[in-house]
Amino acid sequence: MKFEVPRPPTHTPLLAIGVQNKRDFLPGEVVLLGAGPGDPELLTLKAYRLLKEADCVVYDRLVSDDIMAMVSESVEKIYVGKKQSEHTLDQIDINQLLVDKARSGKKVARLKGGDPFIFGRGGEEVQDLLKAGVACRVVPGITAASACTTYSGIPLTHRDFVHGCTFVTGHLQDGPDGQQLSLPWDVLAREDHTLVVYMGIKTSPILSRELIKHGLPGKTPVGLIRQGTTENHQTYRTTIENLSEFIKDNEIKSPTLIVIGNVVNALQEEAMLGDITSAIPVGNISI
Ligand SMILES: C[S@@+](CC[C@H](N)C(=O)[O-])C[C@H]1O[C@@H](n2cnc3c(N)ncnc32)[C@H](O)[C@@H]1O
Repeated sequence: MKFEVPRPPTHTPLLAIGVQNKRDFLPGEVVLLGAGPGDPELLTLKAYRLLKEADCVVYDRLVSDDIMAMVSESVEKIYVGKKQSEHTLDQIDINQLLVDKARSGKKVARLKGGDPFIFGRGGEEVQDLLKAGVACRVVPGITAASACTTYSGIPLTHRDFVHGCTFVTGHLQDGPDGQQLSLPWDVLAREDHTLVVYMGIKTSPILSRELIKHGLPGKTPVGLIRQGTTENHQTYRTTIENLSEFIKDNEIKSPTLIVIGNVVNALQEEAMLGDITSAIPVGNISI
């Protein structure tokens, strides 16, 4: 018996944009789903619906166990997580796997930590899917910068302190002189700006050195948020001049988000003043 590869109707664009993002999950389609940073309650309703409709889930290292527990047992689950340089599958193989699963007529959910389009290689995966003629779409997720800082009591922007916020990657890139971290330091070293660094633990000595060299005061506050929004959520505070030593002394490992700027301590004083138990009606406290 010849198996017919399901295809979206011809008038449908391969990349579902705008209102097309509301359509049902098509057999043969790949949906990149943002899983958020860990807390399962931060999954969007759309991601939840599509996850329930999927019959194959291809997932990353940063997708929490709580979210994977929502996937029914009968659904095929394929782990393709990467840990620093230990790759389970190369990106090229992951892309091919997605194409193959889609061509076999599955509804493929490609579950990624945070938001697929923020340092998640979602753009590359979509490009390869489209080149292969596979219908796809992307469902945004709550990115680490937003959720981890909020759970740590750090407002990314605050009118009294900053006028903007920038997300950068601390991941080393191949350059003419080998691996390097080439960021626009003179633009980033600003006191009236919040800088969020993804994947910056290994390169923190370069971060501190370059930001200070380009004019950021050494006492600028830095927040480090490890395993944000999960049961193991941890928040640390230091300064840019002490950053790399602090990371070493406290053995801080990935996944950790680095937040640099005066917003890091913006709510500290008020938070310390409050007594949370007095704000909660006694009847609601369970001990
Ligand atoms: C490959 S990037 C993926 C980012 C993801 N697409 C997002 O939007 O959050 C991985 C980096 O994101 C940050 N990250 C992601 N989830 C995190 C979490 N729960 N806690 C702290 N940092 C996190 C860390 O810097 C980690 O090294």
